[in-house]
Amino acid sequence: MELKAAIESRTSIRVFSDEKVKLDDLKEMVRLAGLAPSVNNFQPWRYIAVTNHELLNRMADVVAQKIDRLPSTKSVASNNIKKQVTWFSTFFKDAPALLVLVTRPYETVLESAVEVSHDEINLLRNYPDVQSAGASIQNILLAAVDMGYGACWMSGAMFARQEIEAMLHIKAPEKALAFVVIGKPRSENKPKAKPNLADSMEIFD
Ligand SMILES: Cc1cc2nc3c(=O)[nH]c(=O)nc-3n(C[C@H](O)[C@H](O)[C@H](O)COP(=O)(O)O)c2cc1C
Repeated sequence: MELKAAIESRTSIRVFSDEKVKLDDLKEMVRLAGLAPSVNNFQPWRYIAVTNHELLNRMADVVAQKIDRLPSTKSVASNNIKKQVTWFSTFFKDAPALLVLVTRPYETVLESAVEVSHDEINLLRNYPDVQSAGASIQNILLAAVDMGYGACWMSGAMFARQEIEAMLHIKAPEKALAFVVIGKPRSENKPKAKPNLADSMEIFD
């Protein structure tokens, strides 16, 4: 598939058929994720694939519990909103495959030259670790489309980041950063209409 066509036809997929994702296909998506640009070419990432549904269910349960325990506002809609957010944060349990992006702190040359901590540099540079991770995830989303799958980027599950890290044996300084769910879409999904961003682009010529 042409790259532009993959970009234009991609949309978030949350409901999947029962068809499994071939392990070789998952590996190919992760290989392409690893070709993304990253801060200092540090490649501060690795992926964990989860296809075991007993484990996926346990992960979803802790996410649901975490959201349930968030203190509710007095809004009458509070319970419904929490329910919706819970669904959008736990639907990965029914997906054929889940990729978990794990990051580790990157090192900068600057750290050895100035009395500024890694965390401060990270803040000043606008979180290049997270920016790098985004580039890698986008490669997966586009590769999934190209290979006939659908995918969805997820941060909602990170409500239970620490519990999930424990379940997947992720130890500090590594951190789980995001999920990508993958599978064959159950139905046809049209991409959402979005404004042409070029129309609002400011130009300083
Ligand atoms: C950083 C990030 C986090 C996201 N987290 C979730 C999530 O937790 N649950 C979910 O259902 N969708 C999640 N999404 C998908 C967005 O909701 C989706 O991209 C957006 O609605 C636009 O739709 P589209 O992807 O079909 O263009 C996330 C997307 C991004 C980029």
